[in-house]
Amino acid sequence: MRHTEREPDYIIKNDNALINLENSVKSLCKHVMLRQENEHLKDLVIDRNKYETILGNSTPVMKVLRLIQKVEKSNIMVLVTGQSGTGKELVAKSIHYNSPRARKPFVTVNMGAIPEDLIESELFGHEKGAFTDARDRRIGKFEEANEGTIFLDEIGEMDLMLQTKLLRVLQEKEVTRIGSNKSIKLDVRVIAATNKNLAQEVKEGKFREDLFYRLQGFLIHLPPLFERGDDVVLLSKSFLTDFCKENRMGNITLSKEAVKFLMDYKWPGNVRELKAVIERAAIMSENLTIQPEDLIFANG
Ligand SMILES: Nc1ncnc2c1ncn2[C@@H]1O[C@H](COP(=O)(O)OP(=O)(O)OP(=O)(O)O)[C@@H](O)[C@H]1O
Ligand SMILES: [Mg+2]
Repeated sequence: MRHTEREPDYIIKNDNALINLENSVKSLCKHVMLRQENEHLKDLVIDRNKYETILGNSTPVMKVLRLIQKVEKSNIMVLVTGQSGTGKELVAKSIHYNSPRARKPFVTVNMGAIPEDLIESELFGHEKGAFTDARDRRIGKFEEANEGTIFLDEIGEMDLMLQTKLLRVLQEKEVTRIGSNKSIKLDVRVIAATNKNLAQEVKEGKFREDLFYRLQGFLIHLPPLFERGDDVVLLSKSFLTDFCKENRMGNITLSKEAVKFLMDYKWPGNVRELKAVIERAAIMSENLTIQPEDLIFANG
């Protein structure tokens, strides 16, 4: 009798165990699926950036591509220089996504876009209560980029005090959050970019010489578009094809006169400007052909 009284208990317990087991299996499956989905997304991001090709057949661009190939498998710090719109960010991403760090974070910090009083905490993080507004602990961009790459864009905008702190981080390979006395060891690859002439900034006392030499370790200089010869046409055609496909616009082409126009122009805004001009021209064009009058440049 005692046994029969306990039986329902036993069965219910068993049912609970089964339910628990089922829930565990379900959550494990969900976890595995999310992981697979996450890995798949990472693959997509890597593919997109790896093969979002740096277009160009001109000698100066081929030189750049060779430098990227040389440097991508190492951990060496890289400085990318060049005028605005020449592809500095594209190069930084290409190095990261072709490197063994491709599955780890690529973190961009634009030195020119963050207010001076926030930049230190943005880069190195802070502990709760480190300063008036520090309500919570915050992980800095360097920590976020651990095992991956940090892209310090517009590095020429950094003030001297921060340059000193950055130099220390680069030398010691560790960061200390503001308000903490514990340093954290990091494994971060640094790629920096600027459209400024850093050597000139050093001469003027605006940029630390020792940091400059450290960053110069491996320099990749991007030539202005005007120095890339026929690449202007190659890039134009590629941007045009992409734009027409994205906007289902049919097959628009460039007239001979339009090509001459593009080749003769100086391109102050470089590749970014070319892309914008081509996309606008595609919209303005008649009879699926771009004529010189469809090409409107920023400076008239
Ligand atoms: N060689 C290239 N082939 C194809 N697309 C390119 C090339 N160079 C640049 N681009 C495209 O031109 C645009 C500008 O490039 P990017 O943002 O990398 O330039 P940047 O040098 O970082 O500019 P800025 O100094 O203004 O930040 C992007 O859309 C990029 O994809
Ligand atoms: Mg940029």
